[in-house]
Amino acid sequence: MTAKIGIFFGSSTGCTERVAHMIKDEIEATGAATCEVMVISATNAKQFSKFDYLLFGASTWNIGELQDDWGLTLPVLTSEGLVGKKVALFGCGDQFGYSSSFADALGLIGDRITELGAQTVGWIIPDASYQFEFSRGVYEGVLMGLPIDEDNQAPLTAQRVVNWTHWVLEEFGLTPVTA
Ligand SMILES: Cc1cc2nc3c(=O)[nH]c(=O)nc-3n(C[C@H](O)[C@H](O)[C@H](O)COP(=O)(O)O)c2cc1C
Repeated sequence: MTAKIGIFFGSSTGCTERVAHMIKDEIEATGAATCEVMVISATNAKQFSKFDYLLFGASTWNIGELQDDWGLTLPVLTSEGLVGKKVALFGCGDQFGYSSSFADALGLIGDRITELGAQTVGWIIPDASYQFEFSRGVYEGVLMGLPIDEDNQAPLTAQRVVNWTHWVLEEFGLTPVTA
């Protein structure tokens, strides 16, 4: 049976939402899984259990704070649907405007859902194209997910999404079925 992936996002100006749909399109083009994209909210979080794998997308606002939808939801998340579940994280930020809190949401969400029993996957070593000073999304030199910077590096987004999505599928143990 085809795997089901839930992509839950919070996005204030549409950047993370666009990336969520790019990831969905990329995954579904491989035939490895079907994806449902929805806004993160306490109500939608009740649906985690119906998916085999999860992707969480969150931008960072107000110098190291979660985007509003995530800000409301993360504190009320329970382990329901998260225990033992593989979850990959992504989100938009601005590495030059907010170089000391770039994509902090990755770490804020990653740390909490790990406490709740999830397993975060899709970690990447930042390549030289990233030039931020600090991120809570970095643990021992490794990014806990994919940061996208449409504010400064929009031309890099498409390739970053493709590379990362295939890495996540590998970590989910899903094999592309189309050439
Ligand atoms: C007031 C303000 C604060 C921000 N704070 C951060 C921040 O701390 N870290 C970061 O990476 N980006 C920060 N950003 C940039 C946004 O995260 C970025 O524009 C992102 O693309 C928004 O994504 P969204 O449309 O999905 O919400 C900030 C932007 C504004 C206007």
